[in-house]
Amino acid sequence: MTEIAFEAITKRFGSSARPAVDAVTFTVPAGHTCMLVGKSGAGKTTLLRMVNRLIEPTSGRIVIDGKNVLDEDPIELRRHIGYVIQQVGLFPHMNVAENIRVTAEVTGGWSKKRLAGRVDELLDLVGLPPVEYRHRFPRQLSGGQQQRVGLARALTTDPTILLMDEPFGALDAITRSQMQDELLRIQRDVRKTILFVTHDIEEALKLGDLIAVMHQGGLMQLGSPMDLLTRPVDDMVARLVGSDNILRALQYLKAATAAEASHSAGPVNKEDLPLCPPDASLLDAMLKLIETGARALVLQSGDPSPDRHVTLAGIFSTLTKGHSRESRCSPSGEQESAPASGRGAAIL
Ligand SMILES: Nc1ncnc2c1ncn2[C@@H]1O[C@H](COP(=O)(O)OP(=O)(O)O)[C@@H](O)[C@H]1O
Ligand SMILES: [Mg+2]
Repeated sequence: MTEIAFEAITKRFGSSARPAVDAVTFTVPAGHTCMLVGKSGAGKTTLLRMVNRLIEPTSGRIVIDGKNVLDEDPIELRRHIGYVIQQVGLFPHMNVAENIRVTAEVTGGWSKKRLAGRVDELLDLVGLPPVEYRHRFPRQLSGGQQQRVGLARALTTDPTILLMDEPFGALDAITRSQMQDELLRIQRDVRKTILFVTHDIEEALKLGDLIAVMHQGGLMQLGSPMDLLTRPVDDMVARLVGSDNILRALQYLKAATAAEASHSAGPVNKEDLPLCPPDASLLDAMLKLIETGARALVLQSGDPSPDRHVTLAGIFSTLTKGHSRESRCSPSGEQESAPASGRGAAIL
């Protein structure tokens, strides 16, 4: 697993007045998915392409596992970095298996037999049964299937990093949503460090552990979906993520984010309470609370810590965190939950 650190990374094209990427500094921890969002021209693609050296920085460093990428051989570097783009870029005269093998063949180090096994394994991973798909040509695939092959190809050499540049941007809404679900599923299996460019904020909220907001080459904010929705640094970020959109927060924040805030559920008999799956959203949890009339849900987590509950008051408190000026200024944070639990308690 690999960490990516951007250190004052800057790119100026030719003699242009403003850098395309301007002294950007942040770190993506190993195994995390970081979404790069921002308007067209914000510098997202340029930042991404400096990681695998398709673009050379003007100044600054990108450090992967302690090594400056500029000190690496570009071909060797790209063996550890998968790259997926919107246009997919499959070779039309090669079948699916050949298209998936080609990266590994170019970078070398894989035997024919090992590669054949790898192709089938990857096709299974991306949801294309090998027997049915390995001999098809790109023109015999839908847009979504082509993108699955593109993802398989990016994973052939088992890279530790995946760079994805608007990979689902050309797909229809339903296929796009399916591909997002697939990526979440695949990522649970493979745990790559992913940098994913999108201009779709809902995609960023759905897929990202971290979201980096870029504007005019600069990094405006780096944070979790929760940070961006509840504590945007300025009005520009607030507008971009829709921080005042309660439904969006309900949909994209995990119920687990409300669990801490729910310790005030009081003594409850765990046996009688409905369960809340670990990946449920706040909306899922809220609907279950309303439907069942239960006072709290028991949050299911892998570890044996038993007493994490999700209540309407906790959900309310999470939603309102950071919205009131007083609560943001409060050094103790106590004011944060006071009005919220009051109103939430009224609902209860
Ligand atoms: N090869 C290039 N030559 C000159 N300018 C470029 C080049 N690539 C990108 N730019 C400029 O850099 C800025 C950032 O572009 P880009 O990284 O593609 O933005 P994004 O992916 O966020 O839409 C834009 O102003 C764009 O015009
Ligand atoms: Mg771009």
